[in-house]
Amino acid sequence: MLDGKKVLFSGMQATGNLTLGNYLGALKNWVSISDEYETFYSVVDMHSITVRQDPAELRRRARTLLTLYIAAGLDPEKNCIYYQSHVSGHAELSWILSCYTYMGELSRMTQFKDKSAKHADNINAGLFTYPVLMAADILLYQSDVVPVGIDQMQHLELTRDIAQRFNSIYGDVFTIPEAYIGKVGAKIMSLQDPAKKMSKSDENPNGSIYLMDDPDTIIRKFKRAVTDSEAHVHYCDEQPGIKNLIDIYCACTGKTPADAEAEFEGKGYGDFKLAVGESVVSVLRPLQERFADLSKNKDYLDSMIKANAEKAQYFSNKTLRKVQKKIGFPERVR
Ligand code: TYM
Repeated sequence: MLDGKKVLFSGMQATGNLTLGNYLGALKNWVSISDEYETFYSVVDMHSITVRQDPAELRRRARTLLTLYIAAGLDPEKNCIYYQSHVSGHAELSWILSCYTYMGELSRMTQFKDKSAKHADNINAGLFTYPVLMAADILLYQSDVVPVGIDQMQHLELTRDIAQRFNSIYGDVFTIPEAYIGKVGAKIMSLQDPAKKMSKSDENPNGSIYLMDDPDTIIRKFKRAVTDSEAHVHYCDEQPGIKNLIDIYCACTGKTPADAEAEFEGKGYGDFKLAVGESVVSVLRPLQERFADLSKNKDYLDSMIKANAEKAQYFSNKTLRKVQKKIGFPERVR
């Protein structure tokens, strides 16, 4: 609890271009529930360097991501929006927690297995201990709730295990966080392969809708989306391409799958795909416009970045000092 409110933490990597999956699975939910919580939304740039990055590009993407958080509707006066690398406690707590995390636990993480297969020439220790840094992000703020897409559930379970293990040794140090998974859009799949999640790092750009795609590109990608030969807009596991499009449509319009089935009864996939594309365009257009306006306002963004980093540093220090004391690090002389 902070100021009588429960605490919410979440973050996104500043790697690649943000996709509709990131928006519908995470960012959109952040905006809708943020008023109920004391919130911390981090641009997790330290996580990004587990894969080689071009420095100028990483800096640019981090700034873009932070601006997108605000453009999506998170007011930086009310929500603590900051860069992970500006708050030293993330790395400090991560080291401590890594001494309470087992190699076996980390080697079971599917994201580690996937990423090490993909970057076989650079399987660095950071890629392996990545989930410990994520646990530190969350536990540093005594977070009660963590809104994420389904793909992050395994990391969240590990965070809970680490926190419980630590608490069982030292008493109630950490709040045990709960995941918040949205009702719709928690796993948006690739438009080109509905068995694969839509991902920032997909080599095929037609599989993903990027938040900065223009309307023509969005409509074109939906027209090309892989479906099936059933010619029937039906929400079922046997039609994964159509199911994914219905999920996207519902997440963008607030309709239910039953509404969508009724609306497109007897109509071809062409009409349906166009309607899905248009629903996405109408969600992304205002976000893109706000992004363009905000990007011009450098001073405002800079002052907000400074103030929020200080706020995050202040709150994270409280937990860090508590943890350091519990494990027996010498007290600071004031
Ligand atoms: P990242 O940057 O890969 O993704 C950011 C958020 O977007 C969600 N997401 C999706 N949701 C639905 N459908 C998809 N296709 C899809 N793709 C991505 C993710 O679940 C996530 O919520 N390790 C995290 C970043 C992180 C973090 C944290 C998150 C670091 N520390 C602490 C929460 C709390 C990651 O790589 O997310």
